[in-house]
Amino acid sequence: MEKYVINGGNKLYGSVDVQTAKNSVLPLLAATVLTDEKVKILSIPDITDVKNMIKILSRLGCRTVFDGCNLIIDSSCADCYEIPSELAHELRSSLFLLGSVISRFHMAKIAYPGGCDIGLRPVDLHLTGLKRLGVDITEENGYIICKCDKLRGNEIMLDCPSVGATENIMLAAVKAEGTTVIKNAAREPEIEDLQKLLNCMGAKVRGAGSGTVVIEGVNELNGCEFLPIPDRIEAGTFLIAAAMCGGEVELTRVCAENLSSLLHKLRENGCKIHVNNDKIVLENHRRLTSVKSVETQPYPGFPTDLQAQITTLCCICRGQSIITENLFETRFKYVPELRKMGADITVINRNAFVRGVERFKGATVVAHDLRGGAALVTAALAADGMSSVLDISHIDRGYGAFEYKIRKLGGDIVRVSV
Ligand code: EPZ
Repeated sequence: MEKYVINGGNKLYGSVDVQTAKNSVLPLLAATVLTDEKVKILSIPDITDVKNMIKILSRLGCRTVFDGCNLIIDSSCADCYEIPSELAHELRSSLFLLGSVISRFHMAKIAYPGGCDIGLRPVDLHLTGLKRLGVDITEENGYIICKCDKLRGNEIMLDCPSVGATENIMLAAVKAEGTTVIKNAAREPEIEDLQKLLNCMGAKVRGAGSGTVVIEGVNELNGCEFLPIPDRIEAGTFLIAAAMCGGEVELTRVCAENLSSLLHKLRENGCKIHVNNDKIVLENHRRLTSVKSVETQPYPGFPTDLQAQITTLCCICRGQSIITENLFETRFKYVPELRKMGADITVINRNAFVRGVERFKGATVVAHDLRGGAALVTAALAADGMSSVLDISHIDRGYGAFEYKIRKLGGDIVRVSV
């Protein structure tokens, strides 16, 4: 077990490069199973979820070569269609492999996936969509077992714009017979990135980002080289940290377009934000004013993955805020930890009611999930005095070189084994 020890109160100055997007790289890795040719994913982020996804690919028989920055995947020797529980439980995106593995083997067996404990996280939309493509699915002893003679294109209407279900169906449909239309598809930038990679591999996918994705099945896919989009959630986390601590922080290799809902809120708070091509600079030297409300929504609405971070910011703004979490049932587990740091925050059902206090006080707090853990780090950086953030393995799942980047900006943080 490891923890962060943080001495709060430093303003943040300087520039950091944003990693490639965790939530793009994971489905992109699943897509590499669809071809026997080599696929090179550039600038892989150094995070646990990616390492676990690589373990799963290796378990399927794929060969992977990592040169410290880029990852080459060769699936020509893939010979296994089963993902055991000890690997599937590590991360939610093991689920995305269902579509790819079924497309390759016409069989798939996967234990129910893991991932952050932020809600029920059902898989019904994934399974319903795959059934519409001709997949027979049974569930037994905690495993999802899929069989199909031939994948056939079909029209699929998603009850809600699920990111993972959209991606899983795209992966299963690219080599199906005929055309698949996904309606009420997720519009996240990561969906567009997956479309871009698949088309780079020779697929015929269009409409990602529009809410309706059309996939014309092709016979074969080829290898390619691909640079994923920047991680909008890592970028948003650093912008919020800068807003809370004060100072002037530049993010490079970032796509402001994918962060517009957050930039709008931070400007409303009183932050000065300059966007120049793939750079964003945030400057703040005073106590901010609360935004009245934040409601998480599917993209392009305010991202649920930044809910903990913006709520933490509101805790030290002037005024009151209401933050509503509309996507996941239990994504406020970080709130009792913030209260230990002096936050005045009450959660009733899906709403967090915040009254701004002057500053956080340093305390020992526990990370319960990836984004809540990152939010606690930002609170500790802005707090008066020393803090410890325990169980930071949750944070390692999605933030590469996190303490290195924070120290580069002037934050006083060290990783300690306990
Ligand atoms: C993806 O999870 C992301 N993970 C999550 O990021 C993100 O919070 C989420 O999308 C929403 O943006 C990855 O991409 C690896 P969903 P996913 O299916 O695909 C309901 C992070 O911190 N739903 O879009 O699991 C579900 O209950 C992680 O990086 C069903 O009802 O999310 C939720 O209310 C956390 N049935 C809503 O859809 C289903 O079959 C959105 O979930 C699937 C989902």
